[in-house]
Amino acid sequence: MELKVERDSDIESWMEVTLVYNSALKQISTKLEILNDEFQHVHRYNPIEHIKSRIKTSESIVKKLRRHGYESTIQNMVQYVNDIAGIRVICSFTSDIYRIADMIRNQSDIRVISIKDYIVNPKPSGYKSYHMLVTVPVYLSDRIIDAKVEIQIRTVAMDFWASLEHKIHYKFEGNAPAHIKNELIDCARMVAELDAKMLSLNEEVRNIGRKND
Ligand code: GTP
Ligand code: MG
Repeated sequence: MELKVERDSDIESWMEVTLVYNSALKQISTKLEILNDEFQHVHRYNPIEHIKSRIKTSESIVKKLRRHGYESTIQNMVQYVNDIAGIRVICSFTSDIYRIADMIRNQSDIRVISIKDYIVNPKPSGYKSYHMLVTVPVYLSDRIIDAKVEIQIRTVAMDFWASLEHKIHYKFEGNAPAHIKNELIDCARMVAELDAKMLSLNEEVRNIGRKND
């Protein structure tokens, strides 16, 4: 599976695409780190556990375009593949997810294109996460490009579930036996229960802390 490269300028364009999306990831990561530091300063705790980012490989981009019936051109990639640049924000508590999403939304140079709240509406697999598709301006020497970034925000427990489910999905090429799928759905329920219990426990302890201040 190859990128359709007809001219030297296509290679040049692909390198530029990578450069732009990498810069977009750096911008969003820095913004998140600043927000986390400020949050630590004001509220004495870090809403973000850690951040992972990645650029989609050209193979997966081509596969995705093909799946949706598009030719593999640079223009189609930029137009139709929304997750060339992806960033995953892992936090401790469900409440942190919405806090982080609001902080991102409030940044004046970030434009939110769409939101998918798989916490309120989990996928049939049991998958839970909060997805934001945003654009961020990347300042090049002679122009400004708005680059799309897919941001996934989830708790440590949701992330643990998603990585195991992903491994299983991959291993069985999407056709895992029914009992395994059901076990995963059951695990997703336990993850939600754990997240809810840890949140209420944390709030209780924080309230005790406040009373003693
Ligand atoms: P993709 O074609 O997979 O990108 O789906 P989409 O464009 O409809 O977007 P969606 O928001 O549904 O999913 C985007 C990303 O979320 C995926 O690339 C995965 O990283 C993650 N994701 C979505 N559904 C699942 C799931 O059932 N299990 C796991 N482990 N991850 C998921
Ligand atoms: Mg995707």
